Amino acid sequence: MKSRLDPYERLYAHRTGTLRSSAMRDLMAVTSRPEVISLAGGLPDTKAFPADLLDEMVERVTSRDAAKALQYGPTEGLDEFRHAICDLMAEDGTVVGAGELIVTTGGQQALDLVCRVLVDPGDAVLAEGPTYPGAVPVFSGCGADVHQVAIDDQGIRVDLLADAYERLARDARTPKFVYVIPTFQNPAGVTLSLERRRALVAFAQEHDLLIVEDEPYARLRFEGEALPTLRSLDATGRVVYLGTMSKIFAPGVRVGWVHAPHPILHRINLAKQGADLCTSTFAQLVCLRFLQHARRDGVLERMRALYGARRDAMVKAIDEFLPDAAYTAPKGGLFFWVTLADGLDTTDLLAAALERNVAFVPGRAAFVDGIQGASSMRLNFSAADEERIAAGVRLIGDVARERASLARALGRRRDV
Ligand SMILES: Cc1ncc(COP(=O)(O)O)c(C=O)c1O
Repeated sequence: MKSRLDPYERLYAHRTGTLRSSAMRDLMAVTSRPEVISLAGGLPDTKAFPADLLDEMVERVTSRDAAKALQYGPTEGLDEFRHAICDLMAEDGTVVGAGELIVTTGGQQALDLVCRVLVDPGDAVLAEGPTYPGAVPVFSGCGADVHQVAIDDQGIRVDLLADAYERLARDARTPKFVYVIPTFQNPAGVTLSLERRRALVAFAQEHDLLIVEDEPYARLRFEGEALPTLRSLDATGRVVYLGTMSKIFAPGVRVGWVHAPHPILHRINLAKQGADLCTSTFAQLVCLRFLQHARRDGVLERMRALYGARRDAMVKAIDEFLPDAAYTAPKGGLFFWVTLADGLDTTDLLAAALERNVAFVPGRAAFVDGIQGASSMRLNFSAADEERIAAGVRLIGDVARERASLARALGRRRDV
């Protein structure tokens, strides 16, 4: 229906018609109120970042690199920072050259640029179901026809991916890429097993399918051994890799990167020129100081310890207050994906939860159709301390029980 209230209606481009808001962004206005216990965002606990270290890093930039930090930089990013990113990726066994990546304004821009360069309206894209809620507005903004493939506790089901691919092929369609978050997936917290990583790369190679590997959380591991990136398992140019400083340093710097085969990277560079010319040089230099700093690993270690304890607190709280819910405890990252019994709709539940000052992301936000995931929710454990995690989950448990008994009472009445 056309809005009679918007006098600019006739001016909007067609493509804005498919834009969808991200549930997390909508919630942020509410969750920033101090009385609200937010288990909704994907926010690292930036209060835990050592203030003296930040002062020192910024001071070094302003005293030694002020002119550069205040100037425009190359679209692809500052050379020295791109080299530092390569060193970082090499630590995880992913060897790429500095010329093979572009610094972006967060991982979010990296995903947006990839879609701008590869996706026309109506093009098929494959993704995990559930997927990163912040990817939903990107996909809908470019008009992608997203086919979500179920995951289990080993990550995306490669057998079902093959089925989805075949179904598209029968209609003479080929997906532009498959978008995956292999490690501590957002929102489900699960990690793609080594066997599935190999199978996914083999499938991509066999079918000439591009993989977009989004990997913000791999370094936030509390348990178990690191797994190879998909990019490191592929030497055939079939993986585009997205990285970010947001979860290993701070989202406020808005710095990420994209590594892609040269021809794709060239188009991404052109698209970025139009988007923002370059990513903040000041922010890149602060990030460079962080990556090179002797205390970097110590800071990450502290972050892992902090979040690991909060993960444990959330396991305890879910077991106590949502005893019938299903979940997989993550071995790292920031999220639990909790599926309620009783078929309760978490979108309805959220409204009631917000009245009690607790927030989460309803599962539907992680599906492009806005229908699936109705009885699931994403719970974040990095932003609140143990006490608030317990209080938040207890409140969600209270609301869920009330809703379930109300639904049962209404059901009984209908039966009479
Ligand atoms: C899977 C995934 N990709 C991308 C992003 C965007 O991160 P940023 O733009 O802060 O780098 C996030 C943030 O939560 C994420 O979870």
